Amino acid sequence: MAAEGTRSEKFLLLPKSETDFDRVRLAIAVSAAIIDGRATAADLRRQVARFVEKFKAERGFEPGLAVVLVGDDPASSIYVRSKAKRTREIGMVSYERRLPFATEQSQLLAHVRELNAHEGVHGILVQLPLPPHIDSGAVINSIDPSKDVDGFHISNAGLLATGQKGMVPCTPLGCKMLLRRQLGDLSGAEAVVLGRSNIVGKPMANLLLAENCTVTLAHSRTRDLKTVCRRADILVVAVGRPKFVKGDWIKFGATVVDVGINRISAPEPGKEKSKIVGDVDFDDAVQAAGAITPVPGGVGPMTIACLLSNTLTAAFRKEGLAEPQVLL
Ligand code: GUN
Repeated sequence: MAAEGTRSEKFLLLPKSETDFDRVRLAIAVSAAIIDGRATAADLRRQVARFVEKFKAERGFEPGLAVVLVGDDPASSIYVRSKAKRTREIGMVSYERRLPFATEQSQLLAHVRELNAHEGVHGILVQLPLPPHIDSGAVINSIDPSKDVDGFHISNAGLLATGQKGMVPCTPLGCKMLLRRQLGDLSGAEAVVLGRSNIVGKPMANLLLAENCTVTLAHSRTRDLKTVCRRADILVVAVGRPKFVKGDWIKFGATVVDVGINRISAPEPGKEKSKIVGDVDFDDAVQAAGAITPVPGGVGPMTIACLLSNTLTAAFRKEGLAEPQVLL
């Protein structure tokens, strides 16, 4: 069922422009509903935790997730720590492998082989980016596809692209859940995905297609991005550029999902020296959108919750148990 949006109306002076929607905006600016990714992720984790209990009761052991980190990139290190913490919190077993930056590709492949064969490991995630001397594609494609809880393996990408069951990448899966929760049925919606990465943009486009949206996958070479974005009922932005999408790129009432996590300097006296912002200029966009995900607190928390959900799915499939219908 679609969530009820809270909307506050206020009068504002806005610049003159040419569309009916903008003429309405001249008179009324409507503040968008804020999509609460933290609350939705907490709901999802609670559901996953209940199924972990069920799994344990039936099989006598817990599902396990292995996370491999090569090097000591501070951001990756934080992500890995928080994945391990969330894994333990819901009652799964967390396996963490921290390898030095100088690890050779053959050594990393040997770790993956060992985890592929490990009976207690149902999900494997190799944290990206890997050091430049390692071929990420070769490593990802060496993971057993049934344990590839990132959904990055070429066979999982192919299954998604052809509308078949596999493992779905966590960030786009989280975005889809937020959209379904906010809007209900997505059939027939004009969806524009901005950004064509293998990790977010392409799987997102495939997921929205599977939801019967009319999908445009736009990118840095798309002509007149603003006009393309303004067509969207659903706009998903994953370009890695802080505040790239402005309010006048957004159709009045559209639902905006901001995947960006960008650290920018915020030199305000007495405050933090930097802050996290999305790929959408939130303060601007909030006046045009019907609903929008904040950064932080939108898509980010959903990514880890979906990783746990994928691990649960992998464990149930391996054990031949009826697949849990977690979800929102
Ligand atoms: N680095 C940043 N995000 C991700 C992710 O979702 N999966 C992996 N493996 N690495 C990442």
